[in-house]
Amino acid sequence: MDLVKLEQLARELMGHRQTHNSREKGHIFFHGRRTGLLARNLRPLVVPDTASFDNLIYLGGLYHDLGKGIEPHARSGVLLAREVLKEYLTEKDLAIVLEIIEKHNTISGEDHPFYVKLIQDADLLDHMGTLEVWLKFCYSSRRGESVENTLNYWKSDFYKKKLIKWRDRLNYEQARRIFAEKMNFLYEFIHRLERENNGEIINLEEIINAPE
Ligand SMILES: [Fe+2]
Repeated sequence: MDLVKLEQLARELMGHRQTHNSREKGHIFFHGRRTGLLARNLRPLVVPDTASFDNLIYLGGLYHDLGKGIEPHARSGVLLAREVLKEYLTEKDLAIVLEIIEKHNTISGEDHPFYVKLIQDADLLDHMGTLEVWLKFCYSSRRGESVENTLNYWKSDFYKKKLIKWRDRLNYEQARRIFAEKMNFLYEFIHRLERENNGEIINLEEIINAPE
């Protein structure tokens, strides 16, 4: 399996597409790449004896949103990926990648194999932490929203409910821990953004007491 070639192909197919008007061009490629890498890094923590699946997990993540924009995208993604990948993968490997694409946005758990569950968790986690800041800023800037609008959104009940829904969708306890770590970062970031948005000088004591 030529992973470099398949990543290059993914970049050609998705790296310039604009599938969502509040996201950057090529988002489905960049998001897919991160999802594949994260799922592959999560795999040893949850199913340690399955390293032989690592390349397929990465590929499944890379191509999972290939059909985005042609809804339902999981179904169109399977059709597109079959055509694109059939000359590079064995029947058995292709079936696993297509299964990941087909099931990535179905209800979590549901007796899915571990490689589907890993992609489901990584797909969701890629919307959090520093990437959440990136996505929100892209969204806000396209709509001309202010820092205040963004802070209000992050403090809203709507956002809190969304978070609970997301956390409950995660398949693995380890993914829930990653979720919590990413939320800690975001809350620190929100806190600091709010303070700087009010002109506050952070670590004032240190600044006053620093040697000249
Ligand atoms: Fe996705």
